[in-house]
Amino acid sequence: MLSLKNIYYHPSTAEKPILNNLCLNSKVGTITIIRGPSGSGKTTLVEVISGLSGYQKGEIKWFDKTLNARQLRLLCGLVFQFPERYFLGLSVAQELRLGHKKLTTEEQISTLNKVGLNNLDLKKRPESLSGGQQRRLAIAVQLLRNPKILLLDEPTAGLDWSVKNGVIELLSKLKEKQTILIVTHEPELFKNLITDCYELSEGHLTPNTNNSTKQCQIH
Ligand SMILES: Nc1ncnc2c1ncn2[C@@H]1O[C@H](COP(=O)(O)OP(=O)(O)O)[C@@H](O)[C@H]1O
Ligand SMILES: [Mg+2]
Repeated sequence: MLSLKNIYYHPSTAEKPILNNLCLNSKVGTITIIRGPSGSGKTTLVEVISGLSGYQKGEIKWFDKTLNARQLRLLCGLVFQFPERYFLGLSVAQELRLGHKKLTTEEQISTLNKVGLNNLDLKKRPESLSGGQQRRLAIAVQLLRNPKILLLDEPTAGLDWSVKNGVIELLSKLKEKQTILIVTHEPELFKNLITDCYELSEGHLTPNTNNSTKQCQIH
């Protein structure tokens, strides 16, 4: 169980706190959806959870252990919004081997299979893949780190309608092995997943634990 207790984050460059007394519980093996309009602090929240941004007050726990930023970075895999913009490898194989120099071809293929990229040519340039394939590759890169928690910032943004559903199906499959936390401004797309749903507003999270899927449909 991931739990955030009274997280307060007010960077000196911001007029007011971005996260203010924020609480969250995310259970193992579930998908937690956090919805909120643009500018509500969704990206900031996933950066805090994954240890990329500090916070001034509160605590983040994994089960009963309070974690520091370094421990959070090890625990979490963060798929940024538009992750395809940050590919560095000249080929799919190179992209997978960044930080995993000794990754064998078999391991690369098995990781790609986990995200539904079966039979993908490892020599292909990442930028030559389709939008949906690029998102899947970005998720595969994070899975290689064996994160306990997979965080996704707007995983369906900018994808064609037909492709969005494929990504959602993939996340639904991955939830069997990971705790997944998704921040999105289009929660209605996730209505068929059994999820916990929270609304982010004014730096607080309001849980919609009862009838969460219905709540998720309201934008
Ligand atoms: N380091 C920072 N300094 C000042 N303002 C920030 C900083 N990080 C985020 N913000 C502001 O906090 C708000 C929330 O940003 P963000 O987390 O990107 O929201 P969302 O992902 O929901 O669109 C925005 O108004 C943004 O400009
Ligand atoms: Mg954002």
